[in-house]
Amino acid sequence: MADYIYTMEIRLTPDQLKGVNLVQEVARAAGITLYLTGGAIRDIISGFTIRDLDFTVQGNPLKLQKDFERAGAQLAGHDDDVRTLFLVLPGNVRAEVGMAHTETYEKVGKPPTIAPASIQEDLRRRDFTVNAMALSLNEGSRGLLLDPFNGVADIEAKVLRILHNYSFVEDPSRLIRATRFAARFHWPLEERTQQRFDSARENKYIDHISKGSIGHEIAQLAHEDDPLSVVRALEKEEFLKVLHPHWTVAKVDTNGLTQLMKTRQQIVDLGYTVDPSAAVMHFLTAHLPEKDIADIRKQIPRKDLIEAWRDIEDHAKELAKRLMGKEAATPSRTWNLLSSARPEMVLFLAVTARHQSVAQKIKNFFTKWRDVQKRIPLPEMTELLITPQLPEYPKIARDVFMLLLDGKLRSRTETLKFLKPFAPPPPPPPPPPRRGRGPKAAAVAAPIPEAPGKPAKGKGKKAAPVAAPAPAASVPAPAKKTKPEASRKPDTKAKPAKAAGKTAKSAKPAAKAAAARHSTRKPAAKKSTTKKAKKR
Ligand code: CTP
Repeated sequence: MADYIYTMEIRLTPDQLKGVNLVQEVARAAGITLYLTGGAIRDIISGFTIRDLDFTVQGNPLKLQKDFERAGAQLAGHDDDVRTLFLVLPGNVRAEVGMAHTETYEKVGKPPTIAPASIQEDLRRRDFTVNAMALSLNEGSRGLLLDPFNGVADIEAKVLRILHNYSFVEDPSRLIRATRFAARFHWPLEERTQQRFDSARENKYIDHISKGSIGHEIAQLAHEDDPLSVVRALEKEEFLKVLHPHWTVAKVDTNGLTQLMKTRQQIVDLGYTVDPSAAVMHFLTAHLPEKDIADIRKQIPRKDLIEAWRDIEDHAKELAKRLMGKEAATPSRTWNLLSSARPEMVLFLAVTARHQSVAQKIKNFFTKWRDVQKRIPLPEMTELLITPQLPEYPKIARDVFMLLLDGKLRSRTETLKFLKPFAPPPPPPPPPPRRGRGPKAAAVAAPIPEAPGKPAKGKGKKAAPVAAPAPAASVPAPAKKTKPEASRKPDTKAKPAKAAGKTAKSAKPAAKAAAARHSTRKPAAKKSTTKKAKKR
């Protein structure tokens, strides 16, 4: 039997996994039964990107809002009809926590009657077999997969299959969803599903789509990895105009969107987490009039997306202005500015910057300046015992990087000259063996094998490396995967930046100060006295 908890743990990002634990903890404390459901399960099993976390609880999640907020989640909206909370979990993880419910459709085109239900009943009201699975996150049954329609088999067969013949009639938004999933996964509709799809389309059931579903489906477009192919598929089926009557592929800035997704991939490959949804919406609606854009925004249930989309141009303009000012007068300052900006803004500006200098700075930030890291002499730093074990290491490494960026350390010799004063003395030799009389004492006095990593006694000043150096990429601390840039304090105000602004020579006093702080600095001081004495 497949171990779905293991699969979940290896497939989720560390932040998503923390998100699952957070929701699980809140539900456990409240005594509510919790399941991971829908698209998250489908994506975990199929290997596709897990875009968001859908949870279902047997109970009313709206009551847990305060508990989630106390645990670190942010509320991004709620749907009182189906009792769903839209959350942003730490690390920018999107999540929905909904109530397990049934949907009873009395008349075509009328909203269903919602009633609380068990998870088994809830799975029966869903759209496709691959979305009708639930993974228990409850003590006693944790890891149990509920798969009443054999969704796993359909994932293996790569087909989209509705649960029953009335699926598209009951909820016409499933026509849009089928089109979207088929375009995303390149999975065809199963034969009977295709027939039902065609007939529902011909009978124009889509005209009965609810307003809420329109908003939900618009928002889903923002999170597609290839939004252009999805809107093209929607237009082909005449569903794009259902989302807004004036929306066509011609209203999309296709070049901008293509460039955005390409740049986003490059940024992700560098280890950043970047949410392009607001920028995607910007390009998808680029050629629509303001009024239509405002109408589309009004439909979206998640206020975090609406705000980010609304503000994206202004925030990017602000960043562009700063990149043209004093704050970005040198490469090191520009690096600090861009490192502390939100990756979403940098991504958007990378694609939209009008000024050549701004575009060039962003390009350098992602390419040329990263190569400068390779010039940090890590092997020599290890030999000098300047390793991550030193409390001053992050500052030293950052200062070297900043000086290299600004061209103030032009050669390896200059770099080593700058680094040497920071080298701590080798650790003190081990205490001499106790001497005594008799055979026992002789055994004690026998040579002690060297502890791994410790410098050999009496082998001269050059000690063996204490630990492997940190990889170059981690030295100047680019954006961390899990922490949004905005939440980090820019380092520009901190001392390292000051030192970075100085020449290698003038940075020396900082080295001395660091040396003085280091309790084992004495031998180094002795060395300089000897030197002076010799001179005299
Ligand atoms: N769902 C449904 N019918 C709908 C909308 C949603 O049955 N009209 C169910 C599906 O089980 C779906 C889940 O609710 O998996 C969550 O909906 P949503 O987040 O919209 O879809 P995902 O399947 O998670 O897809 P995506 O990858 O686009 O987020």
